[in-house]
Amino acid sequence: MADTGGGSEDQTEVPLIGEGVTQGIVRIGDTVRRPVRPFTATVQTYLAHLHQAGFSAAPKPLGIDEQGREVLSFVPGDVPREPLPAETADEEVLIALARLIRRLHDAAEGWTPPADATWGAIPGAETVHIAHVDEDAELVSHRDYCPGNVVFRDGLPAALIDFDLAKPTTRIYDIANALYYWAPLLDPADRAPALVDADIPHRVAAFADAYGMTDQQRHDLVPLAIRMIQRFHLTMRAAADVDPVFQGFWDNGVKDRMPRAEAWLEHQGPVITSRLTARR
Ligand SMILES: Nc1ncnc2c1ncn2[C@@H]1O[C@H](COP(=O)(O)OP(=O)(O)OP(=O)(O)O)[C@@H](O)[C@H]1O
Ligand SMILES: [Mg+2]
Repeated sequence: MADTGGGSEDQTEVPLIGEGVTQGIVRIGDTVRRPVRPFTATVQTYLAHLHQAGFSAAPKPLGIDEQGREVLSFVPGDVPREPLPAETADEEVLIALARLIRRLHDAAEGWTPPADATWGAIPGAETVHIAHVDEDAELVSHRDYCPGNVVFRDGLPAALIDFDLAKPTTRIYDIANALYYWAPLLDPADRAPALVDADIPHRVAAFADAYGMTDQQRHDLVPLAIRMIQRFHLTMRAAADVDPVFQGFWDNGVKDRMPRAEAWLEHQGPVITSRLTARR
């Protein structure tokens, strides 16, 4: 894992590099500076709401610096990268993530975005013409729980960073996104070595219990996750056409991983749903 821990009085700029989607991210002392994008002000307003509502497991919005960059608090901890390291395959990790997301949802619920809210999206997403899968929004949430956006402390998920894809969504969409990465909802051929033989229905049920998923959410998860993966596949293809970083993701595996995930989930879905909805 990338060690991002420890405070610092040092004012030198240290580049922070994730999957390379956002260029120019640096750490200065206990802050992170990121380029301002059209959605930055809206996301800062959302982050401020989360902190006010008692959810402190996200960067604090600290405005704009003298160079016109967004300023956020640096969140100490370790950030994993794909493939998920063996120590993140533990069920306790999934349970802690579910609880973290539940706390985020509860803090976000009831917040109304400003009238001029602007949200981010994957480049090229506007050219994808199949229906969104998170309409009828219930709340604003993170929507992108890839490993590089989850900060671990003491071996467990402790905070979330990179709210670039936050927007109004549904709880179940957000859950499906987290499970895609962390159950994971992937064909065994595409999982990290530590998760190749994992009992995915059991892991999904452990997440569901820790989150407190309702009966309706348990019924809805698999069909929604299939539609999410279909849409995600088309979105990544559109992004690959317009952005070289996404072209790299596509060529390096997304192209085949997503259809394989869809086929695997079509096949395993009934087992997952029956485990999720078994009498509790
Ligand atoms: N507020 C923060 N606190 C601690 N670390 C951070 C923070 N913001 C970013 N980082 C570090 O910088 C990396 C890249 O930042 P971020 O996720 O915002 O950019 P990105 O280009 O969208 O990356 P990715 O595509 O990996 O999600 C993170 O994975 C993390 O290691
Ligand atoms: Mg990120």
